[in-house]
Amino acid sequence: MNSHKLLVSTLVLGLGLLAGGCSAEKPVKPVSFQKDVQPLLKAACAECHTAPNTEGYQKSGLAVTTYEELMKGTKLGPVIVPGQSLNSSLNRLAEGRPGVDPSIQMPHGKVKLPEAQLALLRQWVDQGAKNN
Ligand code: HEC
Repeated sequence: MNSHKLLVSTLVLGLGLLAGGCSAEKPVKPVSFQKDVQPLLKAACAECHTAPNTEGYQKSGLAVTTYEELMKGTKLGPVIVPGQSLNSSLNRLAEGRPGVDPSIQMPHGKVKLPEAQLALLRQWVDQGAKNN
């Protein structure tokens, strides 16, 4: 009788913790490179970052029209560190984080991307920057 009561209260406590845990966690949906990221980069960046004749490509070596080019980065190396948007210069420049010279904020000479798109880029990088 007592042990039954104990079992019930343990169950109730367990369920409560489970429910609390779930509601506290923010649902993050997987971001797709092909469906989400690539169209965004095409619209916002490709006019200047397409090989071989655009200004951004010629100055930096960065082309964004394929996954392979994007991951290769600039002449100096990668602009994306998979899993680490905090350390990825693509995210730093697009967000115009403190320390980023306004002259190289991207898109170059234009208004910043809307926060929803910046968040999408961040999540994609943090989820491993996959070609998904
Ligand atoms: C209007 C043209 C233009 C657009 C649009 C543009 N860029 Fe650029 N981008 C440039 C130019 C020009 C440079 C070279 C800047 C320099 O070195 O002075 C550059 C350089 C870069 C670099 C390398 C910076 C460095 O020197 O380390 C990155 C990363 C970059 N762009 C990302 C982006 C992303 C991401 C977008 C879209 C959100 C974008 N760019 C949109 C023109 C553009």
